[in-house]
Amino acid sequence: MLRVSDLQAGYGTAMVLQGVDLTLGAGERVAILGRNGVGKTTLMRAISGATGCTGGTLTFEGADLMPLRPYERARRGIAHVPQGRDIFPKLTVAENLKVGAAATGRSNEGGLDEIYDEFLLLAARRRARGGSLSGGQQQILALARALVSKPTLLLLDEPSEGIQPSILDEIAEVIDHINSKRGIAVLVVEQNLDFASRVADRGLIMEKGEIVETLEISELHEDRNLQRKFLAL
Ligand SMILES: Nc1ncnc2c1ncn2[C@@H]1O[C@H](COP(=O)(O)OP(=O)(O)OP(=O)(O)O)[C@@H](O)[C@H]1O
Ligand SMILES: [Mg+2]
Repeated sequence: MLRVSDLQAGYGTAMVLQGVDLTLGAGERVAILGRNGVGKTTLMRAISGATGCTGGTLTFEGADLMPLRPYERARRGIAHVPQGRDIFPKLTVAENLKVGAAATGRSNEGGLDEIYDEFLLLAARRRARGGSLSGGQQQILALARALVSKPTLLLLDEPSEGIQPSILDEIAEVIDHINSKRGIAVLVVEQNLDFASRVADRGLIMEKGEIVETLEISELHEDRNLQRKFLAL
């Protein structure tokens, strides 16, 4: 469904992505792994349209994404949960979810009821301000907000970052559920290998703006030498 080929992107004269190639099939779960600063976030932003590209091709379900604005890509079914989550702290949970719906204009039959049925925590706290939720709860809100637009591809940038270990299992379960029950493809950036092994099957190793290796996450999870080689763990 997603094909990225020789993708180049950066900031000003600083080239960050130096020719990224990757493909993702419908419903697949793939993790991007790599050290700090190699360009993982830039890749997610280049796919969602938040950062412009200077070269290469980007196609989604057969359509060229390059000329499309971020909201147009969202309308086609790409949802992006950015690093740091970006929920609105002063808006309520309900308002945060409504912003997700308004931003993309994709069909939203059933309104937010479906979301509240699935995420009881959000239903219970719908009038609470986003900023009053814990980091883990904010991540669940960000995931739910992405689902309001009924995406077919979810881009997740370090969903486990800064979250208490006790709630990581719950976040992993939510992501797993999103994929297995809704059939949504997941492209997830992670530095936590345990977490990545729960939410993805295939792992792409990124180094200095390129994908340098493709591995089964389970293989990487069990092999200390591979971890040392690619992740400096
Ligand atoms: N807005 C920006 N302007 C200029 N340079 C940037 C900007 N954002 C990122 N960079 C630089 O681009 C490079 C790649 O950054 P990016 O955020 O994509 O890496 P990352 O792999 O996501 O890192 P991390 O693991 O820390 O999240 C880094 O050298 C970073 O300093
Ligand atoms: Mg990043």
